[in-house]
Amino acid sequence: MSGNWGCRFKISLFGESHGPAIGVVIDGLPPGFVPDWDGVRAEMARRAPGTGPLATPRGESDEWEVLSGLFEGAATGAPLCAVIRNTDARSQDYVRGVMRPGHADMTAFIKYGGYADYRGGGHFSGRLTAPIVFAGALARQILRGDGIRIGARILSVRGVRDIDAAPEDILAASGRELPVCSAGRGELMRAEIEAARARGDSVGGIVECVALGVPPGWGEPFFRSLESAAAEMMFSIPAVKGVEFGDGFALSDKLGSESNDEMYMRGGQVAYKTNHGGGVAGGISNGQPIVLRVAVKPTPTISKRQTTVDIRSGETVEHSFTGRHDPCVAPRAVPVVEAGLALCLLDLKKERSI
Ligand SMILES: Cc1cc2nc3c(=O)[nH]c(=O)nc-3n(C[C@H](O)[C@H](O)[C@H](O)COP(=O)(O)O)c2cc1C
Repeated sequence: MSGNWGCRFKISLFGESHGPAIGVVIDGLPPGFVPDWDGVRAEMARRAPGTGPLATPRGESDEWEVLSGLFEGAATGAPLCAVIRNTDARSQDYVRGVMRPGHADMTAFIKYGGYADYRGGGHFSGRLTAPIVFAGALARQILRGDGIRIGARILSVRGVRDIDAAPEDILAASGRELPVCSAGRGELMRAEIEAARARGDSVGGIVECVALGVPPGWGEPFFRSLESAAAEMMFSIPAVKGVEFGDGFALSDKLGSESNDEMYMRGGQVAYKTNHGGGVAGGISNGQPIVLRVAVKPTPTISKRQTTVDIRSGETVEHSFTGRHDPCVAPRAVPVVEAGLALCLLDLKKERSI
């Protein structure tokens, strides 16, 4: 089964990049919840294509129509279905049978026996992250009622790294046109992305996301740990190839004395000296900021010539892929990662045992 996610707060995605529409069915909105649609629109605009030289020029407004689950402006408690129409597809850019290396063309062909809609990556397209952002925007609004704030920034692009920053600074950066803490490093990242595009190539990056105000006690041991639930969501975002929490992989090189988050009492409350664990211990939030990073690979579709197969002729071919593509997925992934974490936290909130 594809396209379904969540235990208590569930979403289901549908649609293809070049079909009539994409969308989401959301199950678990609290009855009486009144969405702030301007807030949703602002989140959708952050992810939308065609917003500058760092993104694909495909021009989609990403306006939506709600078909169910709303009555007199408030959520009814029944599933809410939102449809986002595709208005600017250019299917002639996609050659049937010529498999894009790094994309899902080949694996989709095998899994679905050649029936999958290959145009624009079909159901595998980054475009399907628009409904994730839509659902995530609603989840964020609900979480805001608990005082939870979520933000992300681009931590690095092809080795150009943003400065070290406190969670509050990452929150402040997340709303910027280029979400970074150092404008100077941001310009270097921009130059890397534009240079890659000019060469007919692409680059990857790391997105760092924080959630502030998550109360202690969210997440379950083992399979529904905060980390495993968030990682499942993050790895569902196309092009994500790595996820780490807190100091992540770097912890493997440290001593225990350098890795442990030491505790002390402050004003009658338990406080921590550090946050190497990214706000999670034993799969359960400890009240510190949740900190996670996702590694985003370079955009697979590039115009540089590559070797691949034409599955219809059965031949090895050299191909240069045309079409409109993001030279780097990381900038557009920022609101998607935030939305993914919001969905995950709301799902965990609904099943928390304390
Ligand atoms: C917001 C966003 C935009 C994307 N834009 C493109 C794109 O323009 N061209 C492309 O080839 N891949 C793009 N991708 C990545 C592909 O969808 C992804 O690499 C592909 O589905 C294969 O999945 P995998 O990389 O997770 O294995 C985008 C991903 C996201 C999250």
